[in-house]
Amino acid sequence: MKKYQVAVLAGDGIGPEIMTEALKVLRAVEKKFGMEFDFQERPVGWAGIDAAGKALPEDTLKTCTEVDAILFGAVGLPGRDATIPKEQRPERAALLALRKHFELFANLRPVRLYPGLAHSCPLKDSRIGSGIDILVMRELTGGLYFGQPKKTEEYVEVEEDGTKGKRTLLRATDTMVIDTEEIERIAHVGFKAARLRHKKLASIDKANVLENGILWREVVTEVAKMYPDVQLTHVFVDNAAMQLILNPSQFDVLLCENMFGDILSDEAAALAGSLGLLPSASLGETSGQSGFTFGLYEPAGGSAPDIAGKNIANPLAQILSAAMMLRYSFKEEAAAKAIDSAVEKVISAGWRTGDICCEEDSRDKVIGTSQMGDAVVAALE
Ligand code: IPM
Ligand code: MG
Repeated sequence: MKKYQVAVLAGDGIGPEIMTEALKVLRAVEKKFGMEFDFQERPVGWAGIDAAGKALPEDTLKTCTEVDAILFGAVGLPGRDATIPKEQRPERAALLALRKHFELFANLRPVRLYPGLAHSCPLKDSRIGSGIDILVMRELTGGLYFGQPKKTEEYVEVEEDGTKGKRTLLRATDTMVIDTEEIERIAHVGFKAARLRHKKLASIDKANVLENGILWREVVTEVAKMYPDVQLTHVFVDNAAMQLILNPSQFDVLLCENMFGDILSDEAAALAGSLGLLPSASLGETSGQSGFTFGLYEPAGGSAPDIAGKNIANPLAQILSAAMMLRYSFKEEAAAKAIDSAVEKVISAGWRTGDICCEEDSRDKVIGTSQMGDAVVAALE
């Protein structure tokens, strides 16, 4: 029987609740498809700080280096952030650190509007057009998130007469850096993904203003020559944000720099009904211990501490992230598909967590986090 080692990092806020549901579904997959998962549960984020003094404890990182894939929940509790230096906060010290440590440069965020959820889309039907089925391909280890220098420094205000004033103020700098190799490798992943979809790739940049946008456009245009079967367009990021609202069905794959992908993926997720439905896979080039593609799989939404512990969070993004893990790391396409269709069935049957329920639709049946997990398990069997 095939055995897969998975580091399970549930994290903070709603992380543990939605993770429980994803593990429940994976246990059902084990039985149905004859495979075995060895879940190594480790603390991360505030859970890591509370357990071992660090957002990414050494033991957690060590476990991640020993497994075939990482299933990640969510980290961060903004209410506690002020109590520690910013470099030690969970988003940077755990999530960004993991992405960088394993060089997980390709972040895949598939956004799909399920037929049963058209009413959860904030657009009117005429705008939805032929539907929403977009893959946001986000560069994840470069760009504005990681460029140096990145700092906050003091400066002294200069008065109109040229003398130095008394006020000491702050200046914050982030740097958007991306180089040819980073653009090339994410572009190749983007074009390959487009080949398996509708063969259209929209490359997103700000080439009318930013140096890195000009380079992005040049490099993507060059890489495109190797994929003549994929139709390439270049779209300025501000226009892309607008086009997503005006005519989302024109898009297939969106190829984005780190920050642009962060923003556009939330926008696209909202079009598909809720961020609570958006899974993601973060992949690198290297293979894991046993020859699998190593990856980190996580819902694109955050830890949502305001709704944590109430059994109301939507676990579907976490469950769909587990499906992506089966697909990309373990090449278990049949099992991955089975989870995807179970989720589809549950939605068609009208089962909803609060974030995707529509008050006007009397067919909607609102259920809690754990009932949603149970419903997916039932649909699998
Ligand atoms: C995401 C999240 C993260 C990001 C945060 C939690 C650091 O918003 O995965 O989109 O900005 O990348
Ligand atoms: Mg985000």
